[in-house]
Amino acid sequence: MPLNSVAVNVAVIYYSSTGNVHALAEAAADAAIKEGAEVRLRRVPEIAPTDVVAANEAWAQHLEATRHIPDATLDDLTWADVVLLGTPTRFGAMASQLKQFIDTTSEVWGDGLLTDKVYSAFTSTYNQHGGQESTLLSLYNVIYHWGGVIVPPGYADPIQFELGNPYGTSHVGASGAPTQLHRDIMAFQTRRAVTTARALTAGIESQG
Ligand SMILES: Cc1cc2nc3c(=O)[nH]c(=O)nc-3n(C[C@H](O)[C@H](O)[C@H](O)COP(=O)(O)O)c2cc1C
Repeated sequence: MPLNSVAVNVAVIYYSSTGNVHALAEAAADAAIKEGAEVRLRRVPEIAPTDVVAANEAWAQHLEATRHIPDATLDDLTWADVVLLGTPTRFGAMASQLKQFIDTTSEVWGDGLLTDKVYSAFTSTYNQHGGQESTLLSLYNVIYHWGGVIVPPGYADPIQFELGNPYGTSHVGASGAPTQLHRDIMAFQTRRAVTTARALTAGIESQG
């Protein structure tokens, strides 16, 4: 069977306050659909106090504009063969909203339902040196505990030299909203994760 006809489920699970990570998440979901995957785009619930969100117009507007996107559930994680995780940086680590969702997974983790999937992560900071790698590593630390297969983009395609982050697609807010280049790099990262998951599935199936 050709590799691109192997069925693959992709969950894009993310948090975004003001839309930058949301734009990357949409690019990932679009790329996965183009690859022929079944795709779920899911945001994790907002847990910041209402008055804190309301005090930031961009945050309040984005929350309202994305209410139609379903909340991530444990079923989205266990259903997926590929999990793409996105978060803005918060003082050099993942956002508490995404961590809160991750911290609800102990039961499925204990049942071994998070192992052997492909995981890859993406982020947005405000500053160029504001902690992209440390944020992505804070996410990847979780994946070691889950027994996942981390598939970073590395420099596995020439496009990776254009933004230059081998840990995962990363965006700098100070330079404006994500561009077509960010979307293209997110698409490469997604294709790589999907292809790896298909190869793993095909290899396991070939062993009967
Ligand atoms: C509490 C808080 C902490 C942040 N910490 C950092 C940081 O350590 N480095 C940085 O460059 N940006 C930091 N930012 C900025 C966001 O990560 C950045 O604006 C990002 O692009 C937001 O993504 P979003 O539009 O998807 O929410 C912080 C923002 C907040 C609200």
